[in-house]
Amino acid sequence: KRAQESSDYEQMERATKFFAHQLRHHANSKRVIDYLKGRGLSGDIVKQFQIGYAPDGWDGVLNALGSDQRSKQQLVDLKLVNQNEQGRYYDFFRDRVMFPIRDRRGRVVGFGGRVLEGDGPKYLNSPETRIFHKGRELYGFYEARQANRELEQVVIVEGYMDVVALAQAGISYAVASLGTATTTDQLQMLFRATRKVVCCYDGDRAGRDAAWRALENALPLLNDGIELSFLFLPDGEDPDTLVRKEGAEAFTQRLQKAQSFTDYFFAHLTETIDVQSDAGKSLLLKQAKPLIERIASDFYRETLMERLARLLRRETSQLEAQIKAPARTKP
Ligand code: UTP
Ligand code: MN
Ligand code: MN
Ligand code: MN
Ligand code: MN
Repeated sequence: KRAQESSDYEQMERATKFFAHQLRHHANSKRVIDYLKGRGLSGDIVKQFQIGYAPDGWDGVLNALGSDQRSKQQLVDLKLVNQNEQGRYYDFFRDRVMFPIRDRRGRVVGFGGRVLEGDGPKYLNSPETRIFHKGRELYGFYEARQANRELEQVVIVEGYMDVVALAQAGISYAVASLGTATTTDQLQMLFRATRKVVCCYDGDRAGRDAAWRALENALPLLNDGIELSFLFLPDGEDPDTLVRKEGAEAFTQRLQKAQSFTDYFFAHLTETIDVQSDAGKSLLLKQAKPLIERIASDFYRETLMERLARLLRRETSQLEAQIKAPARTKP
């Protein structure tokens, strides 16, 4: 099993090199490089993230990396190659800009591929494989650690291009949660490397939903000394468009002014509740209670209870009788 794994990582590394090579030497090279330039990326940043190009044929990867039956099967297992009903092999990623996804140790475990223009889904991601588990990886985490001796803070964004555009602007501490909601596993990985995490998703419905889900997933991790905050972007913007519009200085100022976990918690819950009414107060208590009960840190739990008590016009002690600490899990 170990031998297979190490050979999987080697194959993924070869694929990364193949895509990077195609970016420079394929007949479509100019078109792809123009696209990346058009998005504001320099050659240096493209190299740093090892961005590449998956050629538009059906057998680029297949011919380059699938010399025998065994390696063809491996490419299928790694989801770089598909097999149709007739048993024929063909490349999974075609005519796409390729973003290699590295794990914590720098090994390529999957890819994201963006269409240059035209049809098909905008992004295609490697499906789960024996070495790629989406909810446990963060795009850009390895690169961020390489670029910073110490990670003072990390910004979580939605997309590959957000990570790369921020790095291009000099903000080299962004990671992306790969199109899914940011998971507890992903947040835990970050809080092992830094004390401070800012969630900064797109300024749209999906982005705001993602923020609330990240908050929910962070509850069991909120320990003393940890700082979680939320930066909401203007409608229609994402970190990529905004940092290019406003520059790094303005963006870091926004980061500093991000909404604290506590403020966002109550701002969100009271968005649709009238806390002046008794019905509203009871609804707020009902919604806040199970969430607060998932918080590990006594300090954070008590802080939220105090805020909740004020909103409900109760004494904190009255709430403490109702809201329990989570069962202690073994360290
Ligand atoms: P977005 O939909 O916000 O990407 O998806 P975008 O900002 O429009 O893309 P660009 O800037 O034009 O390139 C954000 C992330 O969600 C995942 C990808 O990880 C993407 O980076 N996603 C999005 C997918 O997996 N599949 C999709 O079809 C779209
Ligand atoms: Mn989009
Ligand atoms: Mn979006
Ligand atoms: Mn974008
Ligand atoms: Mn976006």
